[in-house]
Amino acid sequence: MQIPTTNLVLVFLFALHYVNRAIVYPMRMSADSQGVPLLVAACAAAITTLNGYLQCFHLTQIVRHPPLTSSLELDNLSRWAGICLFFVGMGANVHADGVLRNLRRRNDDGDDGGNEQDGTTTTTRRHRRHRQHHRQRAYHIPRSPLFARVSCPNFLGEIIEWFGYSMASGFSLPSVAFLLYTMSNLIPRGIAHHEWYLRKFDDYPIERKWAVLPYVV
Ligand SMILES: NC(=O)c1ccc[n+]([C@@H]2O[C@H](COP(=O)([O-])OP(=O)(O)OC[C@H]3O[C@@H](n4cnc5c(N)ncnc54)[C@H](OP(=O)(O)O)[C@@H]3O)[C@@H](O)[C@H]2O)c1
Ligand SMILES: *[C@@H]1O[C@H](CO)[C@@H](O)[C@H](O)[C@H]1NC(C)=O
Repeated sequence: MQIPTTNLVLVFLFALHYVNRAIVYPMRMSADSQGVPLLVAACAAAITTLNGYLQCFHLTQIVRHPPLTSSLELDNLSRWAGICLFFVGMGANVHADGVLRNLRRRNDDGDDGGNEQDGTTTTTRRHRRHRQHHRQRAYHIPRSPLFARVSCPNFLGEIIEWFGYSMASGFSLPSVAFLLYTMSNLIPRGIAHHEWYLRKFDDYPIERKWAVLPYVV
């Protein structure tokens, strides 16, 4: 069976996200990031494998999406809008992940203002290693326009991405299921991050009122 071009476009969007998430993101992330428990990583791998199979099986064996043209009829327009939203969301996600990564990096090699001399004694060296350990775990308030209103624009970007993918898929059942899964995963996580920021920083920006979705949650 010849796979329609629209289906291939959707497979491409899906694969593009995972080239970033599975290859580029891990290679760029700081080695000092907090570890992930094995069970969590195993669950994520299992779910992502299952979902990848589901999305691609549906797109290559089940559904035949109509061709995308420049016609101004609603279904064409909304699918093009979905593709645009996918890229907007992915741009926001990658940018916000980069801001967070730089916060983590700043801790790794940052000069915290200590004025100790060259560590020649073991005590000094141990002391420094101890301080470095704390520096690596230091958290900062992210500053970037994307963080103006929400604490987790990386999660918001990811949700916009999969909303766009779903819209470009004509809101097919598997694409909507994946969108709901992503939201039920990232919204509670975002709320937890937001509350943590509010507890941890007295000077947390007051305009940053929302966890993930502006004016919603
Ligand atoms: N589709 C899905 O269901 C799904 C599920 C999970 C994740 N994701 C995506 O995967 C990406 C990463 O997610 P995540 O939950 O790991 O993100 P995260 O908790 O925000 O952490 C991302 C990285 O930034 C660092 N970081 C975060 N906040 C920081 C701060 N205030 N100061 C200094 N460093 C900070 C973290 O360091 P530490 O590790 O040291 O804390 C970590 O290395 C996101 O783009 C997300 O959308 C998607
Ligand atoms: C887009 O419009 C063309 C007609 O120009 C139509 O054949 C096609 O089915 C439409 N595609 C979608 C996704 O609705």
